[in-house]
Amino acid sequence: MKLSGNKILITGATSGIGEALLKRFLDLDNEIIAVGRNQSKLDELAQQSPSTIPYKCDLANIVEVIELADFVKAEHPDLNILINNAGIQYNYSFSTKESRSNEIEEELKINLISPAILTQALFSTLTQNNSSAIVNISSALGIVPKKEAAVYCASKGGLHLFSKALRYDAKKVKVFEIIPSLVETNMTKGRGKGKITPNELVAEFIKAFKKDKLEINIGKVKLLRLIHQISPQIAQRIINK
Ligand SMILES: NC(=O)c1ccc[n+]([C@@H]2O[C@H](COP(=O)([O-])OP(=O)(O)OC[C@H]3O[C@@H](n4cnc5c(N)ncnc54)[C@H](OP(=O)(O)O)[C@@H]3O)[C@@H](O)[C@H]2O)c1
Repeated sequence: MKLSGNKILITGATSGIGEALLKRFLDLDNEIIAVGRNQSKLDELAQQSPSTIPYKCDLANIVEVIELADFVKAEHPDLNILINNAGIQYNYSFSTKESRSNEIEEELKINLISPAILTQALFSTLTQNNSSAIVNISSALGIVPKKEAAVYCASKGGLHLFSKALRYDAKKVKVFEIIPSLVETNMTKGRGKGKITPNELVAEFIKAFKKDKLEINIGKVKLLRLIHQISPQIAQRIINK
């Protein structure tokens, strides 16, 4: 993939991994449509660079997701890279009596349904343009699940298979998947050890992206997947210790 002169849409560009991707791609001379809910953070990003196009969208609201795709098709038909990065994670046990239906719906919409809808809605735009790509951010937990995050793990496992299956359809569009382990962001505040920084993740991703490596295991995920192939039980113990 070429690293400059692209028009890139990044969901969840207002913090963590998405913001680090935005900053790196701006440094590399790309134009970015930055999507998030936090209007003041979007304004701040737009002030920092004229190459940032802010767009407020709640990805848990499917009507807003479709409006976002319509906006891109009308105003930015030269979009050639879509990065489905936004995500949330709820941690709870299914043994609680309290209803979790709102969290279940929200988590699946943000992590899996809206990436699929956005991808489908923008697929013809991406296909028409040269050097086009879709980049999905899944998780090691989509391969080896952890306890108390069943819906998150299911959404990321779904995104993993979605990325693989989409490659059958996407003859002209390259489908990348970033599979991270723990990264130091708002999502993981106060939990986990041995985290990498968002900038470390982005550096590893950019190297692989440049070489057209489609499935990108970040950091410790390489070893985890190897262990998982040999013994899924040991891999599960590592994740849940
Ligand atoms: N951190 C990790 O250890 C880790 C590991 C594996 C995979 N991941 C994945 O990496 C991706 C980025 O996560 P992160 O760690 O960078 O988390 P983060 O710092 O919490 O950032 C999440 C981003 O998603 C956006 N977002 C959340 N809900 C949204 C909604 N309803 N509509 C629009 N945007 C929404 C947020 O934007 P607003 O606040 O502006 O809405 C924010 O920019 C996620 O898909 C996550 O599952 C993270």
